[in-house]
Amino acid sequence: MAESLSLPKSTDRRLIYEALYPQVSALLAGEMDWIANLANVAAALKEAFGFFWVGFYRVHEGELVLGPFQGPIACTRISFDRGVCGFTYRENRTVVVPDVDAFPGHIACSSQSKSEIVVPVRSRAGEIVALLDVDSDRLNDFSEVDQVGLENLMRLLEATLKP
Ligand code: SME
Repeated sequence: MAESLSLPKSTDRRLIYEALYPQVSALLAGEMDWIANLANVAAALKEAFGFFWVGFYRVHEGELVLGPFQGPIACTRISFDRGVCGFTYRENRTVVVPDVDAFPGHIACSSQSKSEIVVPVRSRAGEIVALLDVDSDRLNDFSEVDQVGLENLMRLLEATLKP
């Protein structure tokens, strides 16, 4: 495994996701420790895109519990009926929020968060085991390019889950 990421100079996110995919694949190869893999994926996303906050909430004992992340401190526990994360869990699909202030029930861990994307991570049985949460300090910062890029990266993570 390389010790550092090699990323294009471009700010075109499509190119960055393309460059990141094989490197994250290599980073995760052969490593089945779930927390280690979540931690490295959060770090890779932070380094590649400079997102304001990027990290995971794990489904644990009937709620969402903060996992590895990069960025300012965040809410530790979120119930399934709250926030963008709870909504994503209930909807069982990726949710993009262009303006968090316009999303009823959004949980503001930081007033600097302006837009957000949350992507489910599923077990082989199809159950959500974690959520990737990415926050931006800019309005409307996430497009379909991010949705596809992040969902592809979550498929790599899912492949490291024990059956
Ligand atoms: N905004 C999220 C809470 C988590 S923080 O953004 C890190 C939500 O509404 O679920």
